[in-house]
Amino acid sequence: MKSGVQTLRWRDGRLELIDQRRLPQRVEFVACDSAAAVTQAIRDMVVRGAPAIGCAAAYGIALEARRVKDAPPSEFAAAMTRAFDALAGSRPTAVNLFWALERMRAVLEKAKGSAPDEIAGRLIQEAHRILAEDVQANRAMGRHGEGLLRDGARVLTHCNAGALATAGHGTALGVIRSAVESGKRVSVIADETRPFLQGARLTAWELEQDRIPVTLITDSMSGHLMSRGEVDAVIVGADRVAANGDVANKIGTYMVAVLARRHGIPFYVAAPLSTIDLKLPDGAAIPIEERGAAEVRGFAGVEWAPGSVPARHPAFDVTPAALVTALITEKGVVHRPDREKIAALFRM
Ligand code: MRU
Repeated sequence: MKSGVQTLRWRDGRLELIDQRRLPQRVEFVACDSAAAVTQAIRDMVVRGAPAIGCAAAYGIALEARRVKDAPPSEFAAAMTRAFDALAGSRPTAVNLFWALERMRAVLEKAKGSAPDEIAGRLIQEAHRILAEDVQANRAMGRHGEGLLRDGARVLTHCNAGALATAGHGTALGVIRSAVESGKRVSVIADETRPFLQGARLTAWELEQDRIPVTLITDSMSGHLMSRGEVDAVIVGADRVAANGDVANKIGTYMVAVLARRHGIPFYVAAPLSTIDLKLPDGAAIPIEERGAAEVRGFAGVEWAPGSVPARHPAFDVTPAALVTALITEKGVVHRPDREKIAALFRM
């Protein structure tokens, strides 16, 4: 099942991003032609989801090189430094952003001394490669992970870890798509995912596009459904996995993992190796983005709380590895992930 959703596309030398702030009401694209434009798009949540952010950042670097290729070498170098810094400062939690920037930096370093035009060309090729590899990784995760789901499985997911969060197919939703492709009847229960509503707006929309049965619930309903035996498995994506297997994902994921353990329901995390950060020993070291309080007090211009009330908005939380039944990666499924098993993935 190929998802028709195109999150990022390269058109006429520009990066076009489906505007995820407008979904599901409108399908519109935002065109970016510089690193500054891509940085703004990441900050504003035009593009979101760890792998998609990484892909967008890679194109941001390539676009910048193209934009300044006719400048004198010192100006070209200064513009590229500014581009890396700006993109690295766009959002802190998803490690795919920094992973993609490192790949782009390595290409830039290797191309040093070449004509700027040539450098820009190589950077564009690398961004295309990062995009293509992401789809391949998601497909591989789907193949490895779909065996965990039985025919008729009712799968709960949190946030959006689908085609919209990646270059295509998705991580958590990719596993579900692959299970459907293999002939299984799988239905999805989508947490709405307060406060940014990625579940309600994005997961519900993209599954409906593919005609995969989906039922929307508010975040507070998952425990009830689990207690009534209405959830067979949980699958979520990740923004950063620490070396010991602790998982940072959208705020509310930890709560779902605790509930799943309480009810004996498997809790799976689908994430490519580009989401694993071996530099961080455990989840306590993962930087957690704090977003604006206004997103908690209201949404899209509607305010339901007093405008003066202080509100907290940590955008991610950390689920300890001990609550993760298995980590689904492009290299295979890691049951009960720990430091040794995760390190072994990088030697495969
Ligand atoms: O704030 P967002 O929408 O960028 O957060 C996205 C998530 O938490 C996803 O679950 C995660 O990035 C995995 S996407 C394959």
